[in-house]
Amino acid sequence: MKTHSVALVPGDGIGVAVTEAAWQVLQRAAGQGGFGLDSEIFDWSCDRYLETGRMMPEDGIETLRRFDAILLGAVGWPAKVPDSVSLHGLLLPIRKAFDQYANIRPHRLLPGVEGPLRKEGFDILCIRENTEGEYSGAGGRVHQGTDAEVAVETAIFTRRGVERILRFGFEQARRRRGRLASVTKSNAQKYSMVFWDEVTRELAAEYPDVEVTSYHIDAIAARFVMAPETLDVVVASNLFGDILTDLGAAIQGGLGFAASANINPARTAPSMFEPVHGSAPDIAHLGIANPVAAIWSGAMLLEHLGETEAAERVIAAIERTTAAGIGAVPGRHRTEEITAAVLNALD
Ligand code: NAD
Ligand code: IPM
Ligand code: MN
Repeated sequence: MKTHSVALVPGDGIGVAVTEAAWQVLQRAAGQGGFGLDSEIFDWSCDRYLETGRMMPEDGIETLRRFDAILLGAVGWPAKVPDSVSLHGLLLPIRKAFDQYANIRPHRLLPGVEGPLRKEGFDILCIRENTEGEYSGAGGRVHQGTDAEVAVETAIFTRRGVERILRFGFEQARRRRGRLASVTKSNAQKYSMVFWDEVTRELAAEYPDVEVTSYHIDAIAARFVMAPETLDVVVASNLFGDILTDLGAAIQGGLGFAASANINPARTAPSMFEPVHGSAPDIAHLGIANPVAAIWSGAMLLEHLGETEAAERVIAAIERTTAAGIGAVPGRHRTEEITAAVLNALD
């Protein structure tokens, strides 16, 4: 029997409950699909930081490297550990170290889910650059605490980085409805974003079958809400992609519905799967976190490991669950009820 190894990093807050839910579903899908899933759980989190002074051990990256994939919940508990410490100690270094440069975030409507922004025809695949740009970490502060203080945070865009993420987007557009939206703010940012627009135009010549449109981030944010049916694949920088995908989640009906895959397309290191949402400290003790986003992310993990049929069955089970009204309205059902319904729908 073929067996895949998965590193589980539940992290903080609701990350723990939704990872547990997703793992249950993945194991059930594996049993039905005739393949095995091995796991090891890593309790890397803000609590661990408070105990050990580190979010993950020094050899954490090397430990994860031997797995076929990583399933992550959420990282961050700002009341205990500053986000600037926790995220730079766990989530962000994994994306960079494993060159997971393509962050794929599918946004589409699930049956039965309601929401004030819901609009028929909403089906957008966001491709977010995941290793450079505004998240490069380059910068510093001088004259801290004085009137002369200056803080600089430099966004770094490389030709290699911009070209490969756009190319990834073009390839995705080819497999979908043939439309690519490239997102910048080149009216205000005259170096990096003008560069991004230029690379978009250069690549467009190589993909004559893909219809390319460049949008400014502000305009496309409005378009997400007003005319989503005009969008298919959307490629954006690290920060713009981050913001657009919380908006995408909101249009879907809430943060609990949006899945995400941090992909290393060359497969030189494991890819990582996690919901778009965070640790949700405001609801973390209530048992009402929606596990759909994490389960959907788990389906993307199966797909990445080549278990396409199992992945499709998990998505179908999610759809049957929300269509029956379970997990469709935020807060109405408990995490376990939604998980049980998805497991039921799988059987
Ligand atoms: P958040 O996504 O955790 O929460 C935003 C809002 O959405 C909250 O009201 C929350 O209750 C709700 N929500 C989120 N997920 C939900 C779910 N599955 N079911 C129901 N409701 C859900 O964003 P935040 O409050 O800005 O961040 C909290 C912490 O998480 C911070 O430390 C932040 O840095 C971190 N964070 C981590 C990740 C990640 O690990 N990938 C992503 C985003 C935020
Ligand atoms: C996400 C999160 C992270 C990001 C934060 C927690 C650093 O918001 O995965 O969307 O911005 O990448
Ligand atoms: Mn985000």
